[in-house]
Amino acid sequence: MAMALYLAMAAVALLISGAASAGTTKYTNHTVGDTAGWFFNSTTNKTSADFSAWAAKQTFNLGDYLIFHTITNQTVIQTYNHTTYESCIMDDALDTDTFQYSGGSNEFGQALTISVPLTVEGSQYYFSDADDGEQCQHGMAFEIKVGHGLGLPLSLSQPPPPPYAPPPVPADEGQSPPITLVTSQPNNGGMRAGAGICWLFFLLVVMLSFLQA
Ligand SMILES: *[C@@H]1O[C@H](CO)[C@@H](O)[C@H](O)[C@H]1NC(C)=O
Ligand SMILES: *[C@@H]1O[C@H](CO)[C@@H](O)[C@H](O)[C@H]1NC(C)=O
Ligand SMILES: *[C@@H]1O[C@H](CO)[C@@H](O)[C@H](O)[C@H]1NC(C)=O
Ligand SMILES: *[C@@H]1O[C@H](CO)[C@@H](O)[C@H](O)[C@H]1NC(C)=O
Ligand SMILES: *[C@@H]1O[C@H](CO)[C@@H](O)[C@H](O)[C@H]1NC(C)=O
Repeated sequence: MAMALYLAMAAVALLISGAASAGTTKYTNHTVGDTAGWFFNSTTNKTSADFSAWAAKQTFNLGDYLIFHTITNQTVIQTYNHTTYESCIMDDALDTDTFQYSGGSNEFGQALTISVPLTVEGSQYYFSDADDGEQCQHGMAFEIKVGHGLGLPLSLSQPPPPPYAPPPVPADEGQSPPITLVTSQPNNGGMRAGAGICWLFFLLVVMLSFLQA
């Protein structure tokens, strides 16, 4: 009985290390359309590249980035919803499954680079919804499948800590910088201690998995 259990565990360990050595060894940045970038010519209705063909040649994994070299005439919409993808617009899309990446400029013709981290395994879709979806209908769209690879790196799996909010100052003693400073320090310390514990836990998990393998 104990022997069988041991053998089963050994088999699992072998499987895990086998999968790891056969898989990816680093995170990759995929430049969308390669040197041609993410562009659409609205005079000719032509895309700068065949994005579906481009995507079909890549292997995408968690922690990789898509890098869009583009201008503000195009948009970058990411969706996990196939219906939204097929519709080429995001008017009816849900906030929870569709995101617009923006360079923050409202002017046409501004160059920009948009980096999109791949944080969810499985199918996801990208398109430009500019010109009321016409760009997408003419090929500014592609699908990718994200595999597990190395898994999410810490930098993407841990959301940044919430911004520090100073405690409210009583209205009658308006300016008292020393007091704000003193109260701010224990709070920051607490946050750091929390992060330290997360790290310890992570290290423990890593050590355990090494012991297993
Ligand atoms: C990939 O892109 C991200 C986001 O722009 C950047 O932080 C990272 O350094 C890039 N990695 C490589 C290997 O170029
Ligand atoms: C669009 O294509 C036409 C015809 O090839 C070309 O003359 C024009 O410069 C292109 N526009 C842009 C913005 O690249
Ligand atoms: C571009 O596509 C639009 C419809 O999406 C069409 O009205 C227009 O005639 C097309 N232009 C060219 C040059 O094919
Ligand atoms: C960007 O869009 C504006 C407004 O439609 C247009 O005048 C301009 O030619 C476009 N630029 C490119 C490079 O397509
Ligand atoms: C996809 O989005 C539509 C709205 O555009 C929504 O009605 C539908 O439920 C979504 N599908 C899934 C699987 O979430």
